[in-house]
Amino acid sequence: MKSITIQQPGNLVIEERVIPQPLAGEVRIRVTNAGICGSDVHIYRGHNPFVKYPRVIGHEFFGHIDAVGEGVESSRLGERVVGDPVVSCGHCYPCAVGRPNVCAELQVIGVHRDGGFSEYITLPAKNAHVVPDAIPDNEATMVEPFTIAANICSQMNPGPLDTVLLYGAGPMGLTSIQALRGVYGVKEIIVADRIDERLAMAKANGADRVINNASIDLKTELEALGIRPTLIIDAACHPSILPEAISLASPAARIGIMGFSSDPCVLSQQAITSKELTIYSSRLNSNRFPLVISWMSERKIQPEKLITHQFPYLQVLEAMELFEKDQKQCCKVLLKF
Ligand code: NAI
Ligand code: MN
Ligand code: ZN
Repeated sequence: MKSITIQQPGNLVIEERVIPQPLAGEVRIRVTNAGICGSDVHIYRGHNPFVKYPRVIGHEFFGHIDAVGEGVESSRLGERVVGDPVVSCGHCYPCAVGRPNVCAELQVIGVHRDGGFSEYITLPAKNAHVVPDAIPDNEATMVEPFTIAANICSQMNPGPLDTVLLYGAGPMGLTSIQALRGVYGVKEIIVADRIDERLAMAKANGADRVINNASIDLKTELEALGIRPTLIIDAACHPSILPEAISLASPAARIGIMGFSSDPCVLSQQAITSKELTIYSSRLNSNRFPLVISWMSERKIQPEKLITHQFPYLQVLEAMELFEKDQKQCCKVLLKF
């Protein structure tokens, strides 16, 4: 089989590998579609501290089950499935409280173990989620990115009283906007980004108001508009954002962060406690695949709107380069195997 492997930072190869056999409790997927994510590019560029090389990348993948390991029902053969990249131990404290995404022995597919940019992949049977026939292959490939939005939203519990401020109109911001609009029905969504084309995408995906905060001071603008956000999501993930969000937030607001920067930022207790703010963080997803699949079945979200490009897997380098360099036009780029 062919697999897309990062041998070392900056060295991507499409190599011939032996088709893996599913172990006990595992299934094998014949992958047909996969999505490129920022983290795949980070591994390629050597900017992911968790990864060991060589690594087959890819954690957004869709295909059919074509083999099952010992103990897995043969009735699963042929199922159309998407793979949850979160592989967890099932018995540590986070697993016991329903948060396998921060399992003490967390193994992320495409990061800690080989990923889905490959003609075949094996993974635990419970990580392969059946996709109803009504959801087309391309949309099914988008389940994983929406689970990131589902995870942070499930924690923050957005509702009709919420005025949302969302930083960042990249893929993560846009999936969150669709969920906030189509699933949670919040009152208002304001999006800040520094790229006008991305702000236009934000509007097309459900934002009510967009602000280019490269040219306009966000705090001044929101004050002029009389807006005090009750729910703030940072999908841009610069360390300067959390202190700003704390100062912009309404009393009793919730703030959610998703970033992995190791740079410090300065916060004061007074700014948080005086308004009794709640700060959430969200990593990957904790069993949110069934939820997102139900959103797609009920047409509460429109994943196809985020797919801007598709390439055969042999053009993966071209696809990754486009994804990296053309933030104005690119949102989700899919590979076909
Ligand atoms: P992206 O880089 O495509 O989008 C980020 C957007 O934020 C860009 O459009 C950029 O112009 C904008 N931005 C940057 N600084 C800003 C600022 N100060 N104010 C407003 N907008 C600003 O990235 P993508 O794929 O959408 O991911 C967003 C972030 O989420 C990344 O940092 C990524 O590491 C993180 N992430 C976290 C996950 C988690 O599970 N916690 C999962 C996936 C991504
Ligand atoms: Mn992803
Ligand atoms: Zn665990």
